[in-house]
Amino acid sequence: MPAPGRPGSLWIETAAELAFPALSGRASADVAVVGAGIAGLAAALALQADGADVAIVELSKVGEGVTGHTTGKVTALHGLAYDKVASKFGDDGARAYAEANSWGLARVEELAAGGIDCDLERLPTITYADRDEDVTAIEREVEAANRAGLAATYVESTDLPYPIKAGVRVEQGAAINAAKLCQGMAARFVAAGGRIYEGTRAVGVDEGSPCSVRCDGGELVAESVVLATNIPFLDRDLFFARTSPHRSYCIAFETANPVHGMYINASAPTRSLRPAPVAGAELIVLGGEGHKVGQADNHTGSYERLAQFATTHFPDAEFRWRWSSQDYIPADDVPYIGRLRDRVYVATGMKKWGLAHGLVAGRIFADLAAGRESPWAELYDPTRIKPRASALKLIEENLNVAKRFLLDRLRWRGGLDEVAPGSGRVIGRGRRQLAVYRDEAGAAIALSARCTHLGCIVAWNDAEHTWDCPCHGSRFDVEGRVVNGPATSDLERAEL
Ligand code: FES
Repeated sequence: MPAPGRPGSLWIETAAELAFPALSGRASADVAVVGAGIAGLAAALALQADGADVAIVELSKVGEGVTGHTTGKVTALHGLAYDKVASKFGDDGARAYAEANSWGLARVEELAAGGIDCDLERLPTITYADRDEDVTAIEREVEAANRAGLAATYVESTDLPYPIKAGVRVEQGAAINAAKLCQGMAARFVAAGGRIYEGTRAVGVDEGSPCSVRCDGGELVAESVVLATNIPFLDRDLFFARTSPHRSYCIAFETANPVHGMYINASAPTRSLRPAPVAGAELIVLGGEGHKVGQADNHTGSYERLAQFATTHFPDAEFRWRWSSQDYIPADDVPYIGRLRDRVYVATGMKKWGLAHGLVAGRIFADLAAGRESPWAELYDPTRIKPRASALKLIEENLNVAKRFLLDRLRWRGGLDEVAPGSGRVIGRGRRQLAVYRDEAGAAIALSARCTHLGCIVAWNDAEHTWDCPCHGSRFDVEGRVVNGPATSDLERAEL
């Protein structure tokens, strides 16, 4: 089955393109924000509103990283989050989680009402069980969500074209185009005097008074630094070992039978649906098929399984776009957002629910920087240590990393003749392992297969044509350039 639709995010492809220059030389600001996704832009706007002079550096383009590759759902109902959060952080923690994300939803509505066009559509949010064994989990989630202050109801039917066993529903939610939201936020930020440097890779932070963000091509000097880069690239804080990197996939298809809610099922494989009216056509965005980065045999198969699900339940589906994304799952089920050290703030581990949480991050940073009481800072504290809440996941995750680190070095690898045109493969060359890509004409590009972060062996991603690290999620393009951190250095070129 051919991959459904053409590659590219529906959101990015239907948003206008803003362009900002790269950083060249030395610049200074009160606050340096690294990352121009929703969390970085929310931070920039909130700090700017408090009077700070803010500058943003962005590896790629505004809103075109993780934010522009989400499903675009803004909601406080995150799958089955409340039962888990309450069991680890107590009912007070779950209440803070609900309040924060409800505030994030209200904030996106406020931005849209204030003139930022992000195609916002208010819709209910439903997490549903498609198997009998998940009904109890739904019942528990209804109770936990209500205890946390969300008006959640138990439902047994939806407008999905297939039956469900049970569901938890909240009426509040917003489906948006997150790339348009980021562009609108960026335009507002720049109009108020903010600066954005695109195509600028941050490679290090020297913490001092002031701090310095070292970048390719320059340096941004500031009194404090916000790291809003999906996963921070400062290894000393070990976020790469406290989270698990996951990729997931989306397809967008046209249908005459759209849904009228934002849905996600309670079990694996994930099936996430939302409507997306685009240019007079009714589309559905279907997401799911998540897996740990670098640990799938057939990435293209993920799109195919989503397409199979779509054609089974929406027989008239006409595929338009497909894209994938990456996010980090925190060991204790709550993102890390807040002050890391005196002058450094961080937002990471958004667990695929990063839109409301990204807006929340902006408010937490601004409250902390201004010395205001932050109602949610304790829950999201990035320096927290919750051994009972996270030990099992941490052990499981780090065993998986250790296994990949050791066993991938010992695996038998084929030779150069096994690399087909248009694909990549790790091959053995003496005691070295090389990541080799052949273009369609047969020309080969060889790189060291050792990830420049901590040395795990990268794996070929056949859907994105990237080299993905199975340990902490760094990704590199076929030329070896960093696409995703935590690595900050490119893969080394190698001779064949
Ligand atoms: Fe850590 Fe590759 S991302 S070793």
